[in-house]
Amino acid sequence: MTDDLALSAALEREHVEIDAGLEQLGTSLATGTVAAAPFAAAAAALRRHIYLEEEFLFPPLRTGRMVASVAVMFREHGDIWHALDEVEAQIVGGAAPERVRGALDVLLELLGEHNLKEERIVYPVIDRVMAGQSAHEMRGHLAGMRPYAGWTCQALRTPA
Ligand SMILES: [Fe+2]
Ligand SMILES: [Fe+2]
Repeated sequence: MTDDLALSAALEREHVEIDAGLEQLGTSLATGTVAAAPFAAAAAALRRHIYLEEEFLFPPLRTGRMVASVAVMFREHGDIWHALDEVEAQIVGGAAPERVRGALDVLLELLGEHNLKEERIVYPVIDRVMAGQSAHEMRGHLAGMRPYAGWTCQALRTPA
């Protein structure tokens, strides 16, 4: 990770890495096996990515003209979280590869559309809001952040 990497670039790289882990599962399914370990790593990375966006990166953008876009991102995180849980449930339940493939396709489609919107609309604003702060320091700060056990995205929380 180079020191001058913008936060948006670091986040986009996470999208690519998570996609690659999920694709490994897809490739394994085509041969009738289930690459559970790469999937588990990608699932953990995806949940952490959503956690960082919801708890640290997106809240400062929930004002002005970004309100609606950020609300859509939070809602889509709920759909993605559900789809991810479903793939996991299929694997844990020992479902046939074609059933896992079906669940994975739902997840990949949601993620593809969501990531594109973030990269085009939301992430550039993060970089602007961050202007003046060191992206390097911010990335260092976020590197140690992990969701606590039981953390779920906002859209799936039951109101108190
Ligand atoms: Fe997101
Ligand atoms: Fe993202």
